[in-house]
Amino acid sequence: MLEEIKGLIKEAEQFSAKNIDEIEKFRIKFLGKKGEITKLFSEFRNIPAEQKKDFGQTINTLKNIVIEKITSLKNNLEDTQQQQVSLDLSMSGDNIELGTRHPISIVKNEITDIFSRVGFIVSEGPEIEDDWHVFSGLNFPKEHPARDMQDTFFIEKDPDILLRTHTSSVQVRVMETQKPPIRTILPGRVFRNEAISARAHCIFHQVEGLYIDENVSFADLKQTLLYFAREMFGKDTKIRLRPSYFPFTEPSAEMDVTCKICGGKGCNVCKYTGWLEVLGCGMVDPNVLESNNIDSEKYTGFAFGMGVERLAMLKYQINDLRLYFENDVRFLRQFKAAF
Ligand code: PHE
Repeated sequence: MLEEIKGLIKEAEQFSAKNIDEIEKFRIKFLGKKGEITKLFSEFRNIPAEQKKDFGQTINTLKNIVIEKITSLKNNLEDTQQQQVSLDLSMSGDNIELGTRHPISIVKNEITDIFSRVGFIVSEGPEIEDDWHVFSGLNFPKEHPARDMQDTFFIEKDPDILLRTHTSSVQVRVMETQKPPIRTILPGRVFRNEAISARAHCIFHQVEGLYIDENVSFADLKQTLLYFAREMFGKDTKIRLRPSYFPFTEPSAEMDVTCKICGGKGCNVCKYTGWLEVLGCGMVDPNVLESNNIDSEKYTGFAFGMGVERLAMLKYQINDLRLYFENDVRFLRQFKAAF
């Protein structure tokens, strides 16, 4: 009897399997309800008393060997399966996720590109500014509401240090360091103390332009802006200038373009007027030129400024400004940049 068990031990030790079915057959053969080990245990009562101990121990040894064998065979099988997966050369690789530019960057780059094609160069300035560059140097009267705490984020008072409310501050910085002719475009981030909603935000982006030379006229301004509108919104675009007011330009105007969504017929985007307001502009006020040491008898100039968020809203028909700042990749992935 013992010899028979030893034979089974040998068999179990030498057993190897190519797949899980073979392991399962092996398990049933030894550990199954009608398997070898059950059979051996049922022989137990026929064994003479003095051999019982030996007999029992040997069956247990066999049982342990079988269990260990099954576990190690299963582990080996899993390992080789994993190796096979990692060596599958026909598997396609992981896609490399390409980022996209933010719609604000795309539109800002498009605007600066349009103006750089007619000789405007980019100038930049600081976001934290003093009163002179944001207000006083631009002919803002002392009591002007834009200086009010409600519009401006002040960092310090007397002397005032603040976050710029428009990129016109860079106009002043250019005028104090450069002599005319000046032809520059001023993109940047600006800050206003406004409640955040679908149409307003406390942080947004502007692109302004400044052109100062001898004999610059309102006709030059108009033609430059018509060129811009056609490049930006399509060659059939028409522009309309409405009188307006800015402390630093005189005369001042706001420019509308024909609504490209309805083609001027009227829709809910243009509020059924056929026109969309896109920027503010005007001839640089002689006071501004003088306070920046530019001879206003010799030189004249024009300036304009637009909100990048607003233009991007019109271009992409985005109806909520807050989407720009939420970093939702489902929104951001939709924009493909040419710039
Ligand atoms: N700075 C003005 C604004 O923030 C825009 C503007 C710029 C208007 C230049 C006229 C000329 O609203």
